[in-house]
Amino acid sequence: MSARKIIIDTDPGQDDAVAILLALASPDEIEVLGLTAVAGNVPLALTHKNARIICELAGRADVPVYAGCDAPMSRPLVTAEHVHGKTGLDGPDLPDPVMGLADGHAVDYIIETLRAQDAGTVTLCPLGPLTNIAMAFQKAPDIVAKVQEIVLMGGAYFEVGNITPTAEFNIYVDPEAAEIVFKSGAPITVVPLDVTHKALVTPARNAAFRAIGTPVGIAVGKMTDFFERFDKEKYASPGAPLHDPCVTAYLIQPDLFTGRHINVEIETRSDLTLGMTVADWWGVTDRTPNAMFLGDVDADGFFALLTERLARL
Ligand code: BDR
Ligand code: CA
Repeated sequence: MSARKIIIDTDPGQDDAVAILLALASPDEIEVLGLTAVAGNVPLALTHKNARIICELAGRADVPVYAGCDAPMSRPLVTAEHVHGKTGLDGPDLPDPVMGLADGHAVDYIIETLRAQDAGTVTLCPLGPLTNIAMAFQKAPDIVAKVQEIVLMGGAYFEVGNITPTAEFNIYVDPEAAEIVFKSGAPITVVPLDVTHKALVTPARNAAFRAIGTPVGIAVGKMTDFFERFDKEKYASPGAPLHDPCVTAYLIQPDLFTGRHINVEIETRSDLTLGMTVADWWGVTDRTPNAMFLGDVDADGFFALLTERLARL
């Protein structure tokens, strides 16, 4: 089987960084066409810089990185420096990138790339707020037919929320964009907190990253250490959830995950529950299913895959 063509839309973020590294380490399964940066964990100027830092860490300065939207569609930007540090990639000391940004806006890149491909052949992997993807769908609705699948990190049902009591960060930051994507008709797979809160970087898993002994392994060890501080305290758990790499792991080994094909709607009006993913997990409505909503992961299998692949870089 040929490698699946993907565009990673991202707001790095230590866990975004690990997701990108996993994809770049897996060329048999994944062909990364390009990275599109969006404002999220930190402002856009840092997310596109961090995306380039990670490409260079992986020895892949040939992957084009495009800058996208610097704010949500209709709201002020909310960031998460309290989780990721002020650079978004706090932890390792990585050099500033030498590679430049690719010319043009990420939204136009997404549109042009999809238009140039056959129907149903490009997978979009959003790891941050859905602003770039929604803007592209709004500007060029014809490209939805070109999407093979959208595999996104966002939302929650059983775990409810992390940035508010009822909302996960990526969906909360741009709920209007999320609504456009979930109503687009494209095949969607959701990796919610229900899954990622089972993918915990325990001390043993962190040690396995460091034991790789390469610049990538050591950087991932340091990144996930930093990232762990906040979440470990918050959840009083033995390790922090490693959210975004679950998306790229799903593309490589989908049988690590289970879920249900259900209806998912986005709350865009309530102040109290803004950005909630209203997931009909129990099938109590007659609303049409629009997403494969994952619920579980084989965490040991996931970390074994991740560690083995990172060692290839
Ligand atoms: C999501 O929010 C960000 O902080 C992480 O990078 C991840 O994409 C988890 O809620
Ligand atoms: Ca992210």
